[in-house]
Amino acid sequence: MTLDLVVLVSGSGTNLQAILDAVAEKRLDARVRLVLSNKPGVKALARAEASGVATRVLSHKDFPTREAYDTELVKILREALGGSAHGFVVLAGFMRILTTTFLDAFPNRVINIHPSLLPSFPGVNAQQQAVAHGVRVSGCTVHLVDAGTDTGRILAQAAVPVLPGDDEHTLGARILEQEHRLLPGVLQSIAEAGGKVP
Ligand code: GRF
Repeated sequence: MTLDLVVLVSGSGTNLQAILDAVAEKRLDARVRLVLSNKPGVKALARAEASGVATRVLSHKDFPTREAYDTELVKILREALGGSAHGFVVLAGFMRILTTTFLDAFPNRVINIHPSLLPSFPGVNAQQQAVAHGVRVSGCTVHLVDAGTDTGRILAQAAVPVLPGDDEHTLGARILEQEHRLLPGVLQSIAEAGGKVP
């Protein structure tokens, strides 16, 4: 079956692009209903527009509290998903902590990609943390989002070596290549499972 997706972004949107490419190339049975950014002018929005996908900016600066922001976010995303039974929210570089106001509205329907092998290196600067700790292997994790920071159920992981001389940028680029493969792959496996999260 076909998944209905909303993708939340804050930046460059290469993971969004991987999803859009997979949909266009029929490797992913999904429709991207909306791309929403909390920041105006980011490249992810231009990527969505170039693919003819609806976009929206909802700036956190316009809201007094996280709850107020998330209440409006839920309203917009529910409208975009139109009550689809196969609707999922994908966090693709969305740099906001979501409250239970948001998570309770989409139980087990929010999926994140994180640039480390969780539970190692949750939170920001995961690539920098990996380099600083001198680990020899890192990677990326696709997981369900719960109320913790990068603590939800793990759906898939991919590993990459950390090479001598790596910094956060060279390691980050190696991890991103795997992210672009892993995230559309997990979404397609959900589509193939009839919208059930494996
Ligand atoms: C990725 O490394 C992702 O794992 C993390 O934020 C980054 C987003 O990159 N959550 P992009 O915007 O998809 O290029």
